[in-house]
Amino acid sequence: MKAHLSRRYRFSASHRLHSEQMSDAENRAIYGKCNNPYGHGHNYVLEVTVSGQVDPNGMVCNLVDLDESVNREVLSRFDIENLNMRPEFADSVPTTENLCTVIFDLLNQDILKRKFTQAHLERVRLEETMMNSFEYSGD
Ligand code: NI
Repeated sequence: MKAHLSRRYRFSASHRLHSEQMSDAENRAIYGKCNNPYGHGHNYVLEVTVSGQVDPNGMVCNLVDLDESVNREVLSRFDIENLNMRPEFADSVPTTENLCTVIFDLLNQDILKRKFTQAHLERVRLEETMMNSFEYSGD
């Protein structure tokens, strides 16, 4: 019996979409107003989904453990931060697509390393605005 558990979290961060590999004109052409030199912020909504067997305690994953992992690996890293200044984005542009994959990899590594749950990280979904969101489920 496989079940899914999803939990939502919120954090706020700023970014500027700009690649050092391109000229200023190319950056403006590709990223438009998101290339504004002063950056801009988002109130992100993160939805984390894990899946697995319902254990003898009646849980897919203990929410206390999941919250602790998301707090440490994601919220403490990115909340109220300028994403462009973070080492995770030293070599990539902090688009929400890239942020979504970084978050997936951080959480997945934490689950595999600390084994705090038998559940498997199924998907990370990141809402950037009311109008758009991104999902990543690993390679
Ligand atoms: Ni943006």
